[in-house]
Amino acid sequence: MFPTHVYIARRAQLKRTLGSGLVLFLGNREVGMNYLANPYPFRQDSTFLYYFGIDRPNLVAVIDIEHDREILFGDDLKIEDIIWMGHQPSLSEQAEAVGVREVLPMRRLLSFLKRTRRQGQLIHFLPPYRAEHVLALKDWLNIAPQKQKASASEALIRAVVAQRSYKSDEEVAEIERAVNLSVEMHMAAMRSARPGHLEAELAGMVEGIALSAGGRPAYPIILTVNGQILHNHYHGNKLEPGQLVLGDFGAETSLHYAGDLTRTFPVSPRFTTRQRDIYQVVLDAQLHALSLLRPGVRYLDVHLAAAHRIAEGLKALGLMQGDTEEAVAHGAHALFFPHGLGHMLGLDVHDMENLGEDRVGYSESQRRSTQFGTAYLRLARELEPGFVLTVEPGIYFIPSLIQQWKRKEHCAAFINYKALDRYRSFGGIRIEDNVLITKTGYRLLGEPLPKSVASIEALRAAS
Ligand code: GLY
Ligand code: MN
Repeated sequence: MFPTHVYIARRAQLKRTLGSGLVLFLGNREVGMNYLANPYPFRQDSTFLYYFGIDRPNLVAVIDIEHDREILFGDDLKIEDIIWMGHQPSLSEQAEAVGVREVLPMRRLLSFLKRTRRQGQLIHFLPPYRAEHVLALKDWLNIAPQKQKASASEALIRAVVAQRSYKSDEEVAEIERAVNLSVEMHMAAMRSARPGHLEAELAGMVEGIALSAGGRPAYPIILTVNGQILHNHYHGNKLEPGQLVLGDFGAETSLHYAGDLTRTFPVSPRFTTRQRDIYQVVLDAQLHALSLLRPGVRYLDVHLAAAHRIAEGLKALGLMQGDTEEAVAHGAHALFFPHGLGHMLGLDVHDMENLGEDRVGYSESQRRSTQFGTAYLRLARELEPGFVLTVEPGIYFIPSLIQQWKRKEHCAAFINYKALDRYRSFGGIRIEDNVLITKTGYRLLGEPLPKSVASIEALRAAS
């Protein structure tokens, strides 16, 4: 946990921004995998962690701005719980560690909220993303599930996004710890992969590295010879010589800050010529995108600049054709690069995505593109010092997408469909790093993780 004053200051800032009302924070509950006593690993809600830091299920916190009260609702363990779970610090001790003075039993929450509503005080809450919270909001505030998203507090969402978007020094240090652990995971995968290994063996090994260090994966591990499937969580294939392995995984620390890195490497000691050529295009796009990062630049423009480099590179390889500017304007590059360049990173791997991608990644005046590919861009707004984000271009050969576009002759002026036939089983390549935007530019977070062709081949040869 961070020092007490960090949480007090975060809440003070939120109170100043909102000015009035009662803010309701729903901590997460355990979720049963097959029955409640056999739960999924517990993950506290990130906004709850941000303002209250307590990593324990079944808590609700409120900030009553008008009456200047901060209250933690929850129950201490009873002897029946202690038999199974052992002693835990008391709620009062945990509340004190984050500077909250009032602790009330959960049974008092309903009457507390009823009184607040009777008095006509505005209740701010965030859009729920878990079914238990939908039911709780129905019970406590009498808001029908289908109306809850619209009833969530726009002011609270904006205030939380405005705070959580700017990472403090202690948050950056924690994210960097997560990135460094993620680097260890990637180094282990690149050092250990051998023909004949199952993807699952490597996925299990990298997950073990996160767990052994007191962390856990920040999201389901992508480790696959089918990198063209963007979020591929299947790990049943055997690694064969000549294939590429795409690994997109990262750790979250015990404080739940995330790292999110991707590397692509050959199963054989060296890339084939064709793999190296495509890899070099992705790397060039990534390095170019990095070179553009500084405050005031719109990430949308960085995304489009990366798309431009990808289109240029593919043109040089004979897979695209025509005017590059026009090709990108028509979205032709998205056949190969159908996702966004990156996203915010913090307590969530896609930071604050539960608050709405547009509210996090787009300014009030920006409208999300409707064009295939660019429409998936999660972060488009102007960059500012303190933002932490990912830079992750890729090139993929997705057989069903190629087939669909070819059949419709979509963007045929810019794509050499005939030449593409030889690439149908190529797979995909993505390269992803995490950066902090500084006053003058950016800083790459974490220890350097090999990404040039030469450094990856050296690592593979030495293993
Ligand atoms: N690491 C997975 C993603 O960024 O979507
Ligand atoms: Mn990512």
